[in-house]
Amino acid sequence: MNGLVCAELSDYAEKLIRGRHATRAFRPEAVPEDTLRAIFSLAGAAPSNSNAQPWRVEVVSGARRERLADALQTAHAAQRISTDFPYSESMYAPVHQERRAAFGAGLYGALGIGPDDDAARAAYDAESLRFYGAPHAAFLFVTGDGGPRLAADVGAYMQTLLLAMTAYGVDSCPQGLLSFYADTVRDELGVEEGKLLVGISFGYADDGAPVNRVRTERAALEATTAFHA
Ligand SMILES: Cc1cc2nc3c(=O)[nH]c(=O)nc-3n(C[C@H](O)[C@H](O)[C@H](O)COP(=O)(O)O)c2cc1C
Repeated sequence: MNGLVCAELSDYAEKLIRGRHATRAFRPEAVPEDTLRAIFSLAGAAPSNSNAQPWRVEVVSGARRERLADALQTAHAAQRISTDFPYSESMYAPVHQERRAAFGAGLYGALGIGPDDDAARAAYDAESLRFYGAPHAAFLFVTGDGGPRLAADVGAYMQTLLLAMTAYGVDSCPQGLLSFYADTVRDELGVEEGKLLVGISFGYADDGAPVNRVRTERAALEATTAFHA
């Protein structure tokens, strides 16, 4: 690659990677079929251990999306939680908790929900199971034994997918919460293989929604990365 092409590509990469943000309010318009195919085809270029490509992707739209949203809300109301990957608050280090708190303050502040208003936060979470109004959702399953190395491959697929969406003008929100209802997703979609890692709501952002103006900080480079020579 010559220097000029490389400089242009890095400009695009800066825009693409820094231009992706979680979107939490969508317009109802569907993404055209050919754009969907281009995005998911591009996402499949993600790297994986030995090129095993251990992802299984289920994309939901239309009437099926409605039915799934209803089923998720019913499961939530009945507290029918089923996680394929264990979750515990204790997995976070104190520094993670500080970052999570800063993120939560920004998000709930934009929504006008106070720091101690647990009921309003819970209601917002329940409503988010309708994919924040997005016309589509993608569910990423980890196949094989679903162990951490294979899950990491599916994580690489997820970010490749999010960037492919951004490149095609499609907005998204990865939602770990959707993976708390793995059995519901499996039953509704007839999925027989794999562990559910994450769901991703996607479509076109409602630019008028204040929640879509939330921006998150990142730790300083030195806080996460060491260069050894
Ligand atoms: C694996 C994963 C799970 C997430 N789960 C949720 C979720 O359940 N609900 C939500 O609103 N956002 C969720 N997010 C979005 C994060 O909050 C968001 O990516 C983070 O705060 C950084 O903000 P940004 O994506 O706008 O850069 C998730 C992101 C990832 C990568």
